[in-house]
Amino acid sequence: MEQALLAWYADHARDLPWRRTRDPYAILVSEVMLQQTQVERVIPRYLAWRQRWPTVEALAAASPADVIREWQGLGYNRRGLNLHRAARAVAKHGWPDDLTELPGIGPYTAAALANFAFGRGELPIDTNVSRVQERTGHTFSPRAAQALMDLGATICLARIPRCDKCPLAARCPSRGRRYEPLRRQSRFEGSFRQRRAATLRLVATAERPLGELDQEAVESLRADGLVTVAGKRVSLPAA
Ligand code: ADE
Repeated sequence: MEQALLAWYADHARDLPWRRTRDPYAILVSEVMLQQTQVERVIPRYLAWRQRWPTVEALAAASPADVIREWQGLGYNRRGLNLHRAARAVAKHGWPDDLTELPGIGPYTAAALANFAFGRGELPIDTNVSRVQERTGHTFSPRAAQALMDLGATICLARIPRCDKCPLAARCPSRGRRYEPLRRQSRFEGSFRQRRAATLRLVATAERPLGELDQEAVESLRADGLVTVAGKRVSLPAA
């Protein structure tokens, strides 16, 4: 099973900028951006980010306000802030053995960093990887990580898999199956997220009086450290 996958990957690997490096900082930036944002949208933002802050020390020296502005449009702004906090921790103490000690780094991102940057044999299991393992009933080794991601993203799709193009189809017990649409985010979660994003966009352009803004959204952004409220003025955190 794994041999067939790796042979397919040798011909079909996507040429993604973060696959041309083993720099842990670069890998971290890519993985955090990829957590909830699609590859095509991440590529230009990843390249711009690395131009602006080429090293973990450079990012650590940036202000949270600049980081939040650079993250705009990637979604889930807390991720950007956590990336900045992680960079500050690494600039100060180096990379910890247990990468999940870093802010915003869960088991998936820790395993991706361990594998792609530090060459440790851990398989990062995201939704794509997990789907391929479930459908094939096979447990792949850490060597197959990037190949599994590409198979999951281009062939073994969530709803209508392209089994006719799949290198594993001959041995796959789920070959030809169709799947129900996934549950979407609830309308409430979606609209509150939009209110937060709209409020943060306003504050990112200029400091604003609290009274002009969506107060619930401000409170939730403040709790996450994305905005600062001083007096009745709302701004991005300066340091
Ligand atoms: N999604 C998450 N990590 C990825 C990676 N390294 N390559 C492609 N897609 C990904």
